[in-house]
Amino acid sequence: MARSLPLEALLHIFSFLTDDIVSCAGVCREWQVAAERTTFSTLLANSSNLEDLRRIVGRTSTPWRPSFVRKLDFKCILPAYGVHARSRFEDENDRSSNDKAFTQSVTSLFKVLSSWSDDDRCKLELVIYARSPGDVESEPDWAKRKIRMQKHQAFPDEDLLWARYGSSYLHLTEEAHLSTAKCVVELQVHGSFPYRELSPRSVSEILEIVDLTPIMIGPELFWPASASKNIPYWPNLTKINVRYASATPSGTWLFERDPRWRDVSPGRYHTPTWNEGDPPGEKNINQFRTMPNRELNELYLAAGRAAQQMPRLRTMILWADIRCSGDGLEEVINAISDHWFQYTSSSARATWVCTSEFHVAPEVREVWDAVAKSHGQSHITIENLGFHVGPYESASPTEYYDDEHGFDEDFKKEYGCFSWDS
Ligand SMILES: *[C@@H]1O[C@H](CO)[C@@H](O)[C@H](O)[C@H]1NC(C)=O
Ligand SMILES: *[C@@H]1O[C@H](CO)[C@@H](O)[C@H](O)[C@H]1NC(C)=O
Repeated sequence: MARSLPLEALLHIFSFLTDDIVSCAGVCREWQVAAERTTFSTLLANSSNLEDLRRIVGRTSTPWRPSFVRKLDFKCILPAYGVHARSRFEDENDRSSNDKAFTQSVTSLFKVLSSWSDDDRCKLELVIYARSPGDVESEPDWAKRKIRMQKHQAFPDEDLLWARYGSSYLHLTEEAHLSTAKCVVELQVHGSFPYRELSPRSVSEILEIVDLTPIMIGPELFWPASASKNIPYWPNLTKINVRYASATPSGTWLFERDPRWRDVSPGRYHTPTWNEGDPPGEKNINQFRTMPNRELNELYLAAGRAAQQMPRLRTMILWADIRCSGDGLEEVINAISDHWFQYTSSSARATWVCTSEFHVAPEVREVWDAVAKSHGQSHITIENLGFHVGPYESASPTEYYDDEHGFDEDFKKEYGCFSWDS
């Protein structure tokens, strides 16, 4: 009886089951395989149970399983710290042991994943984030978590909570040897609050889609500082979407205060505050930093060089995590509060949308023209747009942007679109 049901029918039936599916898997081999297509589609793993992952989803022991995994959520467990350590900021020693643990577990993870990769059907989305058992979010009991937060409010110096590691950025160390895991076609890195900040070296060659949001980046995400060797190549990348903080990991600001702010009477707006231990990309201070500085053209230059090494690239979106907040701000900015860039290869268009004055440097134009040519187009169309009026009901102008045609003409007219370059 069980055998006579076609696989499609079984899959359909199993898709309605939740807990019972485990007992179905015990009926016979066909049912097991069909049930596992559901039960193994999303897996959670962490650095302490990688060995189980390797055993349970082994390509030799269970050759059918790797291709069932669609999504793997991986938590990298950083070294624990005790109650006393909650009162002090992470120092170089902490950072170095965190980097070591991070590198070790990501390396081990990729080793497991590379063993799945011989199966061409195996294509998965990998989500990576990092936490220490000492971090307040690691406390599973909400009541206990609340007590810790209340304690922090009463005695902030005794438990710094996030501020303890807010200025630390995890790196893969030199010892990182990431095996090629061809099965990872989409990587999501939760590299920011409420997770640990991550500064991942690219796993460029394997990826089809890169979605890094939000993350701290510098030009070296795309292009090494000494470009003579290790030129990155991204043969399979079709889509890259990066939402980045307003400072680089090396501490350089990408955005300055817009001089138009000087005209604003003080006191009417929130004063930016800066506390010891706040990460460099801390939001409060960002609200005035909307104007790109020179460094940003460096970022676009590096991104354009990298894009020429992405033969299959369809879209690249780089979106700065800047916030203009404060009452009455619209009198000053009077526009979309964003700094956003999109390149689309099929329409050979590079669009910038900028709240504050920005000029696309000539070498950036050249590089992106070369990108369009590398994608078989005759030349690039560059738009560098500002808006006199923002569509305040919407979070971002991207909703009005069409990959093929750019912004709708009516939309541009309605919101007072102009070019920063004219
Ligand atoms: C790691 O995963 C195992 C098995 O799911 C779980 O028991 C353990 O609590 C996890 N460890 C952490 C720190 O999340
Ligand atoms: C990525 O590109 C390389 C070289 O072009 C190719 O051999 C490989 O099969 C691709 N991997 C995936 C997952 O598409």
